[in-house]
Amino acid sequence: MAKQVILTGIRANNDLHIGNYMGAMLPMIDMATKRAGEYQVNLFVPDLHSFTTPIDHHKLQDAIMNNLRVFVAAGLPIDSPDVHIYRQSYVSAHSELTVILDGFTGFGEMSRMTQFKDKAKKLHDDLQEYVDGVDVSKSNKNVSVGLFNYPVLMASDILLYGTTYVPVGDDQTQHIEFARDIAERMNRLFGELFVVPKSVKEQHTFFGKDQGLRIKDLVDPTKKMSKSDGSGRGVIFLNDTPEITRKKIMSATTDSIGRVGYNTDQPGISNLLELLSLFSSRSLAEVRKEFEGQTQYGLLKEAVADSVANFLADFQANLTKVNDKALKDKLETSEKAMNAIANRTLLKVQQAVGLRPKD
Ligand code: TYM
Repeated sequence: MAKQVILTGIRANNDLHIGNYMGAMLPMIDMATKRAGEYQVNLFVPDLHSFTTPIDHHKLQDAIMNNLRVFVAAGLPIDSPDVHIYRQSYVSAHSELTVILDGFTGFGEMSRMTQFKDKAKKLHDDLQEYVDGVDVSKSNKNVSVGLFNYPVLMASDILLYGTTYVPVGDDQTQHIEFARDIAERMNRLFGELFVVPKSVKEQHTFFGKDQGLRIKDLVDPTKKMSKSDGSGRGVIFLNDTPEITRKKIMSATTDSIGRVGYNTDQPGISNLLELLSLFSSRSLAEVRKEFEGQTQYGLLKEAVADSVANFLADFQANLTKVNDKALKDKLETSEKAMNAIANRTLLKVQQAVGLRPKD
């Protein structure tokens, strides 16, 4: 029997941060190393998703290659034949399936996507005229059809490979639910075309989490840590130096309660406790036991700063050692293999909807 597929994509927009690492990359790497041989692991760069909001196109090529290097530095075992790394636009079936699925997707269901609504609002509100030095003041500031269509392309990314598990952060839950919905809809209409990915709840159980991960911004812990945060003060990037990392953590927003607690009234402290658990590989319960009730926040911050700075020092040392030649060879092999798999699924769909004769 074919191996079950675990798949995720990480966009090459701005620099990657510890939220991307913990939300998406680490679960993939854990599976690829601890359960090698059991699953097919697909980690790709969704490059067509990169300009659903304005970017500097001159920087995209470098950003894509850099993302791929980050996958390797983070520990993805690219020597394994079950591990595949690729660029979405190098497998044209992603675009073709998207256009087909568009015909079965409701305008209303896309309009309800919270990520679309949030990003569209941000584009409108953003008075900034330039993004990375590029003038976006005129047509680019329009909310694009690409942004609206984002979940359909994402569903194609998932469904082409018969994916069962998709590790993503909490912000992507609605998109995963849509991928399941469209797969079930197509299967109902045309027979068994797609593997339906597991529900988000089942995925959390599989990856050993009680809830979807959402690392919060250090300055405003009520919102998620995000690449598009303007100042970057609340975001820890994977290329931040240990000094900058420490500084950001030591000045993280807390509260005036004056007692370490894990609750909704203390989003900053709760986020710090979660970060410590994640980066010291200890359970949240263990970390809470150690720190809850303490009346000074400094010790907790020190512990978080140490664990994150140590992690980044190791990661950055690995990044300098990435072998570009081996990486490019792997890309070539994976992209060839992925085209073969994706085209098989695409043909099945084309035949089902009447675009190709049935065998
Ligand atoms: P992107 O690049 O915006 O985010 C990559 C991954 O990082 C997760 N993430 C977080 N997790 C925890 N805490 C945070 N603060 C945080 N910020 C970001 C995101 O949830 C995501 O898992 N739509 C995807 C890209 C994509 C994709 C796919 C993923 C395109 N096609 C197919 C899976 C399958 C995204 O959000 O990328």
